[in-house]
Amino acid sequence: LPLHDKKVLITAGPTHEAIDPVRFIGNHSSGKMGAALAVQAAEMGAQVHLIMGPSSVIVEHSSIQRIDVTSARDMYDAVHKIVSQMDIAIFSAAVADYRPKDVATNKIKKKEDTLHIELIKNPDILASVGALKNKPFLVGFALETNDELNHAFAKAEKKNTDLLVLNSMRDKGAGFKKDTNKITLITKEKEVIPFELKSKVEVAKDIVNEIVKRIK
Ligand code: PMT
Repeated sequence: LPLHDKKVLITAGPTHEAIDPVRFIGNHSSGKMGAALAVQAAEMGAQVHLIMGPSSVIVEHSSIQRIDVTSARDMYDAVHKIVSQMDIAIFSAAVADYRPKDVATNKIKKKEDTLHIELIKNPDILASVGALKNKPFLVGFALETNDELNHAFAKAEKKNTDLLVLNSMRDKGAGFKKDTNKITLITKEKEVIPFELKSKVEVAKDIVNEIVKRIK
C-alpha cells in the first residue's frame, strides 16, 4: 500500500468559538471532506490522526484515531501535540479566524437593540505548521468566494504549503455540507491542476493520489 508506514494528520470540520455558555460563532462545515480524506488515507495504508471540530459525521476505520476538539485554540493544541511525528498533514478544517475576546460566564441577557461582541484573532494553525523547521508534507485548503486563484496563490505562499486545494463557493456542488466538491490543486511550483465535480470520496482519492506522487 502506498501510504504504508506513513502517519497522516488531518484537520476537519468547523470550530466553535464560545460567546457565552450557550452560544458560539461557527460556520457551515460538516466534516465530510475531512472524513473522506481520513478514510482514503487509511485505505491506502496510513495511520491517520483525525482532529475534528464539532461534527456529527461518523468515521469508522481501525487505522483512524479521531480526536474531537471544539475551538480553534483546542485544534491548535491538538495539532502541535503530534505534528512533529507526522509525515503528511492535511488541513481541511474551516477554522474560525476570530473568537470573542471575552466569554461571558453567564448567558447574555436580552437588553439593548444592539449588542457588540469584540473579536480577536485566532492562531493560524496551518501557517504555524508551515513555519516549522521539520514540517510534514503540507496540504492546505482554500475556500474562496471571489478572485479564487489569486487568493489561493497568496495562501499557498503565506502558509508554505506543498499542495493547496482550492474550492470555490461559486461552483455549484462545491464546498460546505454537500456530498460533492470541485477542486483545483496548486502545487509548490505554482502548477494549477483542475478537477471535475465529483463525490467527496472521489475528490479525497484525487488529493491523496497527488500526495503519493509527490512524497516518493
Ligand atoms: O466539511 P465540509 O462540509 O465537507 O466542507 C468542506 C470544506 C468546504 C470546509 C473544505 O473543503 C474546505 O475548503 N476547508 C477549508 C475551509 C477554510 O476555512 O478555508 P480558509 O481559506 O479560510 O483557510 C485556509 C487554510 O488555512 C485551510 O487549510 C484552513 O484549515 C487553515 N486555517 C485557517 C485559519 C486558521 N486559523 N487556521 C487554519 O489552519
